[in-house]
Amino acid sequence: MLDKKIKNRSAKICIIGLGYVGLPLAVEFAKKGFRVFGIDTDRERIKNVNSGRNYIRDIDSKEFKHLSLRKRIIATDDYSVLKEVDVIIICVPTPLRKTMIPDISYIIKATNMISKYLRKGQLVILESTTYPGTTREVVLPALERKGLRVGKDFYLAFSPERVDPANKVYKVRNTPKIVGGMTDKCNRFAESVYSRIVEKVVPVSSPEIAEMVKLLENTFRMVNIALVNEVALMCNRLNLNVWEVIDGAATKPFGFMPFYPGPGLGGHCIPVDPHYLSWKMRKLNFRSKFIDLATEINSRMPEFVIEKMRSLLKKKSKSLKNSKILVLGVTYKANVSDMRESPALDILKLLLARGTKVYFNDPYVSKVSVNGKILSSVSLKNISRYDCVLVVSPHKIYNFNDIVSKAKLVFDTRNAIKGVSSSKVISL
Ligand SMILES: NC(=O)c1ccc[n+]([C@@H]2O[C@H](COP(=O)([O-])OP(=O)(O)OC[C@H]3O[C@@H](n4cnc5c(N)ncnc54)[C@H](O)[C@@H]3O)[C@@H](O)[C@H]2O)c1
Repeated sequence: MLDKKIKNRSAKICIIGLGYVGLPLAVEFAKKGFRVFGIDTDRERIKNVNSGRNYIRDIDSKEFKHLSLRKRIIATDDYSVLKEVDVIIICVPTPLRKTMIPDISYIIKATNMISKYLRKGQLVILESTTYPGTTREVVLPALERKGLRVGKDFYLAFSPERVDPANKVYKVRNTPKIVGGMTDKCNRFAESVYSRIVEKVVPVSSPEIAEMVKLLENTFRMVNIALVNEVALMCNRLNLNVWEVIDGAATKPFGFMPFYPGPGLGGHCIPVDPHYLSWKMRKLNFRSKFIDLATEINSRMPEFVIEKMRSLLKKKSKSLKNSKILVLGVTYKANVSDMRESPALDILKLLLARGTKVYFNDPYVSKVSVNGKILSSVSLKNISRYDCVLVVSPHKIYNFNDIVSKAKLVFDTRNAIKGVSSSKVISL
């Protein structure tokens, strides 16, 4: 019955959590003709969805408006809509607490609400990144609380999201999707539903494998970024250009994959997800040394940026204290508006603590709060008044030729100004 409904697209889909992950997913299902409901706790987001106002940069706003106005996507904060849907996909946040311990309270809240309305024949999929065991140990018991049995009465799977914001090539449709069901039937249904919107679905043998796949992917990135950040520190001591070293190594057609250094880790995933794994392993008396070491090296990068800038300014007989610095781009990476875990925040904090007069410009961010101080994005009109322009998020929108020609000094932490040859530009 469920399989038939999925195939003929009469299955109704509900996405819980309409953020960077949930909203694009809702759009993909709606585009394929499914009736989509979205549940969110954020009233502003609900209002935006229902009035056709897109708030996620990777979604085509015109297409979104069209789907919303035709009521192909309807948002609500009323969980009772779950009674009438066939597939429920959970895309709520999984942050870390201040103590670096996983905060799965959003998953628990969403699951408890699903449990209240769960009925026979429904498929529930968890997409939020989490530690191995969450689907079986946390979600399943809550869903079986009222006597329904998985694989028989309802279906449950974990399927990690791999979205890469601002990636122009890989979107939901052409990024292979891993699914790990609690039973074979759960796997089959989850595979069937995703294959309506994704070119390739890859079933694995259990939810734990699917959970661990995602953590391997993000730990792989975190550790390799740490390695190359340490290589950047080494090259700095050796007076070598790390970017040239990486470009050279990347000409090897096998056994090497380039990663690039930067001012520090950012975003909702890479600095966070590996700690879900190390927390789980600590509970099993296992210390994940690579994650610990990578965290230590990556978190040193903002300090390194400040130290290097201090020595660049010193050559111009300036100190950090009597300098004006313009931070260019404060989001966690270029061409996104997401500030979560952005290294720019650490850099702004460190500069303010040293008494530097700090300013920032970002076309996607109007205000930033640093230690209770609110900074507003400044215009790029008077670039020559700053002692140094510090490039943190090199958005494509920036005209670097113009910026370099007006600036006194540019410290490029991302090697973004490759094309502009000028002695004023110093890279990490
Ligand atoms: N952003 C990414 O690039 C990315 C990539 C891969 C995986 N992920 C993972 O996907 C998950 C979601 O991330 P995101 O970036 O979309 O987060 P987000 O903060 O952008 O969106 C989450 C949404 O869930 C809503 N929400 C919170 N609690 C809720 C509840 N109880 N009921 C209904 N809605 C609720 C929030 O209001 C918000 O709109 C996380 O586990 C994250 O690690 C994110």
